[in-house]
Amino acid sequence: MAKHGVGIAGLGLIAQSHAIAAQSRPEVVDLVAVCDANQEVAEAFAQKYGCRAYTDYNQMIADPDISVVDLILPHFLHKQAALAVLDAGKNLLLEKPVAPNYPDSLEIYRRAREAGVHFMVAENTRYIAAYQAVARLLEEGAIGDVIHVRTQLRSNEKEHLATPGNWRTKFDLGGGLVLDTGAHSFYLIAWLLGEIASLRAVGRKLFPLDNEIEDTAEVTGLLKSGAHFSCTFTSVSEAPHSERLELYGTNGVILMDQAAEPVVKLFSGALDYAGTNIAEVPAALDGWHPGGWHFESVQREVTDFIDSLAEDRPPLIDSRDCVYAIGVVDAAYRSIRSDESRIDLTDLKREDI
Ligand SMILES: NC(=O)c1ccc[n+]([C@@H]2O[C@H](COP(=O)([O-])OP(=O)(O)OC[C@H]3O[C@@H](n4cnc5c(N)ncnc54)[C@H](O)[C@@H]3O)[C@@H](O)[C@H]2O)c1
Repeated sequence: MAKHGVGIAGLGLIAQSHAIAAQSRPEVVDLVAVCDANQEVAEAFAQKYGCRAYTDYNQMIADPDISVVDLILPHFLHKQAALAVLDAGKNLLLEKPVAPNYPDSLEIYRRAREAGVHFMVAENTRYIAAYQAVARLLEEGAIGDVIHVRTQLRSNEKEHLATPGNWRTKFDLGGGLVLDTGAHSFYLIAWLLGEIASLRAVGRKLFPLDNEIEDTAEVTGLLKSGAHFSCTFTSVSEAPHSERLELYGTNGVILMDQAAEPVVKLFSGALDYAGTNIAEVPAALDGWHPGGWHFESVQREVTDFIDSLAEDRPPLIDSRDCVYAIGVVDAAYRSIRSDESRIDLTDLKREDI
């Protein structure tokens, strides 16, 4: 089988994990080139990984040795870069969020389907061992029917948010906490529990930085199953980037927290004070290990994309759920911008994507 040539565009923090993952499959792919608008960054990265450097992603996409393009770009570039890859008929791995709004996300997804290429949204949530353990517990009926779910994502983006001109500080450049983190939480809910029926959202700027972005938000509402959900996000916490999930069912409760030890615990009734440690989630590797949670799940995500391409099978992730998540993000912003009004999502359906 001929090997695929990979080109990575956008060489921020997470790009190292993508490159390491690509180089971990030498029998299937070669990392041919990397691209960053910052020439120094592109050249240093290319030297480290032994590949070509580009500063213009259109030139990299046109490279005849490249058949797989991995886009890790600022959100405002997702649509134009993704469509350029698809127009060139090349396979595409696209970092979350698909695009800053639902219509553009839908367009990218449908164009990828029409182009017949191998396409995946890089949503690392699907590859985090703790969430995979939770999915298995739900499938086994460990807590019965879920009636209430809470997610929390906390990070410290104060430096980005205080940097004038940084794309994360402006809505028209794809900034926005609900977009950046809601893409993860709404994907998680769609994957584990299904669609959302309605929501209300609150967005606040709690930290006095000179930008237009909400730094703290809460999105609450009902799932189509009837369960209640609440997703909270903050980008001004004095803690490392970390995540929490609480699932309350008719027969039990699952508490998962990246900052806890154990990471996942199952409770089965009002007198089950000790709970059960879900030991398959190794804390040192994938739990409260400040870098590991993200970097390792991102590597697993990229290798699944490569393996699924080589094996001609769908990847583990259903990218429709990532598009759906952006439909929910749009609705949350509609609520925030209309005095926290209730938004009905009955008509937003994954099957229509
Ligand atoms: N799944 C995760 O956990 C995770 C974590 C971090 C970032 N991301 C996603 O990765 C993407 C990038 O985010 P980031 O934090 O790395 O951003 P960043 O701003 O830190 O890095 C983006 C890089 O792209 C480069 N760039 C900007 N314009 C370019 C252009 N026209 N052509 C080529 N390169 C260009 C910049 O110079 C920079 O090096 C976003 O979609 C983000 O949501 C995902």
